[in-house]
Amino acid sequence: MSEIIAKVSSFSCNQATKILQKGGLVGIPTETVYGLGGDATNSYAVAKIFEAKGRPSFNPLISHVCDLNAAILQGEFNSIALSLAEIFWPGPLTLVVPFKTSGTVCDLARAGLNTIAIRVPGNQFTLSLLQEFAKPVAAPSANISGRLSPTLAEHVLLDLENRIELIIDDGPCSEGIESTVIDCTNEKARVLRLGAVPFDEIKNHLDKIELANFETKSPSSPGQLLKHYAPNATLRLNACNSNSDEALLGFGDTQNATLNLSPSGNLTEAASNFFAMLRELDKNFDSIAVVPIPQEGLGAAINDRLQRAVN
Ligand code: TXA
Ligand code: MG
Repeated sequence: MSEIIAKVSSFSCNQATKILQKGGLVGIPTETVYGLGGDATNSYAVAKIFEAKGRPSFNPLISHVCDLNAAILQGEFNSIALSLAEIFWPGPLTLVVPFKTSGTVCDLARAGLNTIAIRVPGNQFTLSLLQEFAKPVAAPSANISGRLSPTLAEHVLLDLENRIELIIDDGPCSEGIESTVIDCTNEKARVLRLGAVPFDEIKNHLDKIELANFETKSPSSPGQLLKHYAPNATLRLNACNSNSDEALLGFGDTQNATLNLSPSGNLTEAASNFFAMLRELDKNFDSIAVVPIPQEGLGAAINDRLQRAVN
C-alpha cells in the first residue's frame, strides 16, 4: 500500500489536522464520495485544490463542518434551511445559504459568490477531523476534473498521488454518489443537484421545494445553473496599463498596479487573491483594467472567470 494512504485512527486524524493547519491537502472519506480537503478559510490552500483537480474554471466548493452550530457561524439559515439541517445532518445533503459577512470561509472557496454551500458529512472519522481542526474544510470530489468521483481510497491515489499529502482510507463510501444540493436562499427551496438524498424524501418533509430546471441544462454539470460572480465595475482585459479613471489589477512585474495578484508571477498565489482583490477594486472603482494572465495552470481558470465577468 502507498505510504500516503493511512487507515482511520486517532493518529491519522491528528496527522490530517496538522496537514490542514499548514495549508496542505488531504483525501478525506465521506459517506458520498472521497473529498479533496483543504482549509476553507485559507485561499492559498483552496487554490491548491483547484490546481490539483486541474479544473479550467473556479466552481464554488462545499464547506464541510462538524455540526449545525459551526454552519451557522458561516451562513444565514432561514427556517427551511434549519429544518432540513435538523432532519438530514449529518448526511449527504448540502445547503446553499447566504454567506454571513462575519463568516471565515474565503472568497475563492465560494467563487466570489455571496452564498455558501455547506454540509455536515455523515462519516465518523471526518466528523472527528472537523472537530479537531475546528475550521470549515472545503472539499470537492477527490478526482481529476472530468474523471469519475472516487469511492475508494485507491481511486484517490490513482488520480492525485503526487498532488496530495495524505489519503485517509475508510473503505468504500456507503452512498457512492454526491450529496444532494439545495438552494435555501429564497422562500422556496430549490434542488440544484440531485444526489444521495432522494427528492421524494425531501418532499416528504417540505412542501415548499422545487427542482431546478434540469431540462435545458445538463444535470451532470450543475455549475451551469449557477450565477457567476460579476463585478459592478466595467472590466477591460489584457490591458498594458490603466487610464486615469481605472484601477489596474496587475500580475508579475506590472508597474503602477493598484493591486497585484502575485508580484512574483505565481499563478497559485494569483488564484488565491483573485476574487478578494476583484471585490476590493469593485468597491472603489467603476472600471478595472486587468493585465494579461498566462493561460497555463490556474491561469486558465482565472481567465475563464475574467471572461465571464466581462460578459
Ligand atoms: O458529496 C459531495 O457533495 C462531495 C463530498 C466530498 O462532500 N463533494 C462534492 O463537491 O461533490 P463538488 O465541489 O464536486 O460539488 C459542489 C456542488 C457543485 O454542484 C456546485 O456547483 C455546488 O455544489 N455549489 C457550491 N457552492 C454553491 C453556491 N454557492 N451556490 C450554488 N451551488 C453551489
Ligand atoms: Mg465532482
